[in-house]
Amino acid sequence: MYDKIQETVTFLKKMGLATPDYGIVLGTGLGSLVNIIDIIRKIPYAEIPNFPISTVKGHSGTLIYGNIGGKKVVAMQGRFHIYEGWDMKQVTFPIRVMQFLGVQKLIVSNASGGVNPDFKVGDIMVITDHINMMPSHPLQGKNDDRLGPRFVDMHEPYSLEMIAKFEKIAKEFNIEIQKGVYLALQGPTFETPAEYKMVELMGADAVGMSTVPEVIVAKHMGMSCFGLSVITDLGIEGHVEAVSHEAVQLAAKSSEKVISKLVQEFILR
Ligand code: HPA
Repeated sequence: MYDKIQETVTFLKKMGLATPDYGIVLGTGLGSLVNIIDIIRKIPYAEIPNFPISTVKGHSGTLIYGNIGGKKVVAMQGRFHIYEGWDMKQVTFPIRVMQFLGVQKLIVSNASGGVNPDFKVGDIMVITDHINMMPSHPLQGKNDDRLGPRFVDMHEPYSLEMIAKFEKIAKEFNIEIQKGVYLALQGPTFETPAEYKMVELMGADAVGMSTVPEVIVAKHMGMSCFGLSVITDLGIEGHVEAVSHEAVQLAAKSSEKVISKLVQEFILR
């Protein structure tokens, strides 16, 4: 894997990508952030050596490099999921590449089902912690010490400093935000009522199918992480309703502008 990372990084450096301040995974909810990036390079995943190619509708695959204010960012427009058939190493490969490009701070976003009874559809949840319930692990197998340590400290998976900074900005903009624990399942099925209940009993506030592998690998490499989740449906006991990919996209869309504005401000400061 190390050699593949080097090959990809060499290619991207040749394309002009140099030491970005932030790496961003433009998951559901952050898609429109791309509109405020002054784009320098836009590279389809298909042209990047060793990159997987996203297959999910609404998750196009392009790597974007540019400026937000005076800050350089590299953003993944389109991410990879376990349910597509990619393995954990493939799903997290772009995060490794970002770190080798010089990224120290990672921002991720996703859509999730809320199981906290105080949540409503459209809420923005700052991820304070996560529970990994995916069936495999991105660090499984022999450890490559050039990438990070065998046993990874996870006492602060999401940067307390970045959480505090985001909360301050949201307050200034008068945007109410939620905070909570994100639990990751493999998908692609949404949860049954009993599964939503399990998620809540396990101590989570929301459930989704992404983000956790990326954050694990980022922590393996010593990066600071910040995560946002848009609550697109609710899995609250007695009130579990039908959910679809389209409904999730639609609910996320309604919060996208606000999230993008807050993240823009977050990066500028
Ligand atoms: N469950 C899992 N993933 C999701 C959900 C959900 O309810 N909503 C959006 N992504």
